[in-house]
Amino acid sequence: MNFKKNILCIGAGYVGGPTMAMIAFKCPQYRVTVVDINPKRIAEWNSDELPIFEPGLDEIILATRGKNLFFTTDIQSSIRDNDIIFVSVNTPTKTFGAGAGMAADLQYWEKTARQILQFSGSSKIVIEKSTLPVKTAQAMENILRNVHSSTFDVLSNPEFLAEGTAIKDLENPDRILIGSRETESGLKAREALVEIYANWIPREKIITSNIWSSELSKIVSNAFLAQRISSINAISALCEKTDADIAEVARAVGMDSRIGNKYLNSSVGFGGSCFKKDILNLVYLCRHYGLNEVADYWEGVVKINQYQQERFTLNMLTAMFNTLADKKICLFGVSFKANTGDTRESPAIFIAKKLLEEKAEIVITDPQALRNAKADLAGIDGNVSFIEDPYRAAAGCHAIAVLTEWDLYRDLDYQKIYDTMIKPASLFDGRNIVDHRKCHKIGFNVYPIGKPALTHF
Ligand code: UDX
Ligand code: UDX
Repeated sequence: MNFKKNILCIGAGYVGGPTMAMIAFKCPQYRVTVVDINPKRIAEWNSDELPIFEPGLDEIILATRGKNLFFTTDIQSSIRDNDIIFVSVNTPTKTFGAGAGMAADLQYWEKTARQILQFSGSSKIVIEKSTLPVKTAQAMENILRNVHSSTFDVLSNPEFLAEGTAIKDLENPDRILIGSRETESGLKAREALVEIYANWIPREKIITSNIWSSELSKIVSNAFLAQRISSINAISALCEKTDADIAEVARAVGMDSRIGNKYLNSSVGFGGSCFKKDILNLVYLCRHYGLNEVADYWEGVVKINQYQQERFTLNMLTAMFNTLADKKICLFGVSFKANTGDTRESPAIFIAKKLLEEKAEIVITDPQALRNAKADLAGIDGNVSFIEDPYRAAAGCHAIAVLTEWDLYRDLDYQKIYDTMIKPASLFDGRNIVDHRKCHKIGFNVYPIGKPALTHF
């Protein structure tokens, strides 16, 4: 079959895989290829066990794979044969050299740019999907410039999908943002990308901007979302001291239409691969430009998030008579949020490590994330086990800590669980999703976030 466009994505991760699957699903007239340097990941994308869990993903992969969606490791011919290239390789926080712990590590990004240059035989549109520091497109343009007769237009098209709702977000996004150079060829490239999304997204939701605004908007969106969580979490600490109730405060504040009620759920802290990385990146950029006050302001969001996780662990220690040694604690949930198996920057991993340092024995349960959690905790000293069934996991434990907001944990038979636990049994609800009064009545000492504890002492 002759396809109308040939589209490539370099990087078959949480972003590249689902995004390309959606383009293939909505645009059967296009041929979409996803390439990755990791052969295991590609083999998984080509198997019945996809490398990531995402509600609704299996269905669209089944409908498109082998028809107009292909996963491969052949980078050379993929670059040669496609004219539109999305780049979605990872850009983790740098762990070495200048900017370590803050700046984005752009080595994979640059390597990819050089591969595009090396294997291209014709002009290409190159699209930044990964979240990148402002002005990265310029570096890419410099790498791609003037080496042979081909031309390269670099666009910024940041991804706003959230894990767990990726398919819904891709199908019906709030907006699609496309940044380009305002030159004749930049505007032409931008139109080619608009045309792809216009297959299923109303034109008024596809917005365009200059390339630097686009790069910056992605980082700022994540910073604003994370800032709301840190704001409400900071207030949760004050609620615990004053007997105010964070849910009541969030409800009252969120009903102001100027504020809105989203991202006001107090929690054990935000996780995920993006928020911390992107804010640190913003902080680094501000410092680079000498804007230290601005940098300090945003750094506070990350500091409060760290504080919230530490505070939660310390509260557990205090409530359990200041010693956790040889106590058995069950963690309900280890993914960084519900409906994903992803554990990157998950508060549960941080808390698991802290509890192990206190010499507690921990049992981790989660419906999707145990494989990743095992890898994260491999080689860590201490007694840790992984049990998928929450009832079996909690049996014989002194305490439960709810760390992920999986619906499953709202509706468990807590009486049945309480009966199998060591007394006094404690329930630390890091997501405020359990019925606290009911659990208190059953016999638990209950410690929510930002609300008075319900104990039997
Ligand atoms: C990535 C970026 O980390 C993030 O900044 C951006 O917002 C979206 O894209 P994600 O898809 O979650 O996020 O990353 P990950 O799941 O790690 O996937 C990246 C993939 O790129 C990996 O499968 C990796 O093997 C691949 N890769 C990396 C390449 O194919 N080539 C490389 O040179 C480096
Ligand atoms: C985020 C952005 O939402 C998305 O637009 C961007 O493309 C990538 O980063 P993601 O990290 O997948 O997406 O998940 P998100 O739903 O934003 O949750 C992030 C963290 O915040 C999770 O740990 C979640 O549990 C926590 N959270 C969220 C809260 O603690 N309280 C809230 O009210 C909302």
